This record gives sequence, C-alpha cells and structure tokens, in this order.
Amino acid sequence: MRTLIHGHQTSFTDEGKGQAILFVHGFPLNRGCWSSQVDGFKHRNRVIAPDLRGFGASEPRLGPASMDLFASDLFALCQHLKTGPVILVGHSMGGYVALAFAKAFPLFLRGLVLVGTRAGADPPEVAEGRIAAAKKVQAEGIASVVEAMAPKMLASSTTNPGLEGTIRELMGSSSAEGVASALLGMAERADRRADLADIRVPTLVLAGAEDSTVPPSESTALAEGIPGAELVILPKAGHLVAMEQSIAFNAALGSWLDASCGFS
Ligand code: MLT
Repeated sequence: MRTLIHGHQTSFTDEGKGQAILFVHGFPLNRGCWSSQVDGFKHRNRVIAPDLRGFGASEPRLGPASMDLFASDLFALCQHLKTGPVILVGHSMGGYVALAFAKAFPLFLRGLVLVGTRAGADPPEVAEGRIAAAKKVQAEGIASVVEAMAPKMLASSTTNPGLEGTIRELMGSSSAEGVASALLGMAERADRRADLADIRVPTLVLAGAEDSTVPPSESTALAEGIPGAELVILPKAGHLVAMEQSIAFNAALGSWLDASCGFS
C-alpha cells in the first residue's frame, strides 16, 4: 500500500486486525526484512510495516533524516491508518527511531520491542565515519555500504548462509539519497540513555547472541535501564535476528505479547 506522508510517498504493509504492531526496519534495509513477522502475527494482530523514507519503495528526502523525523513520519502514518496506540518493534536504526517515538509520542505507545539496538549516541569518530560514508554514497551510490554491511548481518555460525543473498537484495533496493540521509541522521542522533527510565510501557529487549554490529551488551544495558523490561538473547543469531532465527524470534515476541501486554 502507498500513501502521502509529510509530502513523500510512503509504502507500507498493513495486514490483519486487532491491536496494531508497527515493525520498523534497520539500516539500510526495508520492510521486507519483517516478512516472517507479518506472516506470523497477522492472524492475531494488525501488523504494519512501513518502508522508512528513502528505503524500499518510499521516496527519499534531501538532507539528514533525523530519528525524530522518522518517528514523526511513523506517527503521521499511524494517524492516517487510525491504529490507536501501537506496539512498536524497532530493529537497530529502527530501534533508534522507536526510542525517539517513545520520547515524542509516549501516549501513542502500548508496548516497545527493541531489537539489536542501543540508546547511546555515536562517538565522534563513528559520527565522522558516517558523514564520510554519506558523501561517498552521494558520489558513487550505495554499493560500498551494502558491501560493508551485508556480510555482518548474520551469526558467524549461521545455519542459513544463503540468507545473505536475500539481505543484499533488500539492501540494494535502497536509494542513494535515502541511505545518505539516514547516515547523516544517525550521526547526529541524540543520546537517549537518560530517557530510558521514563519509559512506562511493557518492554522487550531482544538480541542475537552473535550480533557483531550492535553487541548484545548494548541490549543488556537497555534492559537494565528500562523499568520492568524483559531481556531475551537468542542463540545462533547475529544482527538480523528476526530473519535469521524467525521461528525463535516470533516465539519470544508472541510469549511476551501474551504475558506482558495481556492482549492480542
Ligand atoms: C542498522 O542495522 O540499522 C545499523 O547497523 C545501525 C547502525 O549503523 O548504527
């Protein structure tokens, strides 16, 4: 499906009925990474998965795409779709966006699921590297980013090495403008660690035990910082845990929805 949000065409999946779960992808991916979750939860919930601006089939914008801007796009999409408060599942960069959403729109949140992500800002050298990478993408296209990221998405012991080809295809559909804008937005993102204690909704923090992109220690710190948060570390999984271990991921998410959110 497709609609105009803040002046740009936004593509999204919207299936099922009931309490809405909003799945937000990481960088430089798109909603295709949630296909196992859409299939796994649409029978019990309304599942919405957008392509963030500049990714997948959603139009890009020029300049930094801040995490706050992505969050306000999501809020506008939820209003357009009349979802009511959502359970927000954010992976990696999608987790940065989820934390921005939790800060800006706390009353529009029924639950929070943070996957392979962190609350801190970029150290200066990482931010500088992203700005340099954004310039390279603007000049040469996204190949260097795909080459750097795709091999790091799965566990080194993965039982599904063929998945890397699918991941490369998903990454390859991102626009250069979108990738550059998100790199600049991540480089300037806020440190949300002090906000974690204010999160008042049931929260699940989930990570792959072999995540080499965002180490599981970041998830432990998130879970320690958010009141009442549950932590699940899944074995034999890397950064893209929802794709790599989709059955275990869906089981963990489903159990948490039943136990902590008390509704389907
Ligand atoms: C992601 O998977 O979204 C990225 O690895 C996040 C990041 O680069 O910080």
